Amino acid sequence: MSENVASIARAEAGARTEARLARDRRSRGTLRVARRRPVAEDVVEFTLESADGGRLPDWAPGAHIDVILPDGGAGAGLVRQYSLCGDRWRPYEYRIMVQREADGRGGSAALHDRVSEGDVLGFGGPRNNFRMAPAEEYLFIAGGIGITPLLPMIDQARRLEKPWRLLYLGRSARRLAALEELGEFGAEGELAAGGHRVTVHAADELGRADLERWRPSDPAVRVFACGPARLLDAVEGWGAVPGGRTPRVERFTASAQGGASRTEFEVVAARSGVRAAVGAGESVVEALHRVGVDVITSCAQGVCGTCETDVLEGVPDHRDSLLDDAERALGSCMFPCVSRSREARLVLDL
Ligand code: FES
Repeated sequence: MSENVASIARAEAGARTEARLARDRRSRGTLRVARRRPVAEDVVEFTLESADGGRLPDWAPGAHIDVILPDGGAGAGLVRQYSLCGDRWRPYEYRIMVQREADGRGGSAALHDRVSEGDVLGFGGPRNNFRMAPAEEYLFIAGGIGITPLLPMIDQARRLEKPWRLLYLGRSARRLAALEELGEFGAEGELAAGGHRVTVHAADELGRADLERWRPSDPAVRVFACGPARLLDAVEGWGAVPGGRTPRVERFTASAQGGASRTEFEVVAARSGVRAAVGAGESVVEALHRVGVDVITSCAQGVCGTCETDVLEGVPDHRDSLLDDAERALGSCMFPCVSRSREARLVLDL
């Protein structure tokens, strides 16, 4: 890269970082729980309003917010991410759905057990790592609570008058949220799929779904999927139809990315010039914290996008669950809570 091109790239990266930091400063606040209601077995919907009654930051389909869990009890002070599933054109409220995770880390249980109407929660965001790209036609695939980011996408597709279909999978219909609102499109189960845009497949009634039947052959169809890892691995495994795009997926937990190699390298925070050796057993974020450079994080698993950082020099070893292949190949940004370096030195715009 010539010196000129390199300095333009640095300036652009700096501008992106400034914009991101400004956005982070703006998008933190408190939300009051206006309403909570059960919407399926082990699933509660929370309607949230700004604690000061003001307008909330705008968002687009696929966005999520960070919710800071209430003080007291297990999970207090932790941050969890929940997709916004309400109407983006209602600027005074957010809607999220939370499924109680029996084997979770305490976040969903804290929201289910300790958050009532009138309570105030901290929040950050919204952020969007699962943007709805333009397409001639959409295929949405949801597994269980993975329906949440897809609901606003369906609304958008309807407004744009684009053809769309939804495959909604779950162990049991009792555990599937939003069936009522999807019902207006004709959600009636697998057997009725021919005439409907929504196919609900409850495994306890219909057995295991034949996912391959849904694999698109038309490059005009873009696939957006959210749900458990096994479902998303299968959908990602479809790859791209010739002339089409690879499926976009959003994961709740990190996928097994990047292999096992964890070599040591040096990271440089370009803005201060501070350097840190990143040991094999620590993350870039931890190494930088040790030398006084703090990076804002949330999930620490490479799934939420909070720690996105521009790369000024070096080649990142991406281990997040956010970037697609083209973005990885570009190497211009990374998520230092999980990602590492392929070379001995990595310079970040921090
Ligand atoms: Fe969530 Fe890094 S903190 S991606």
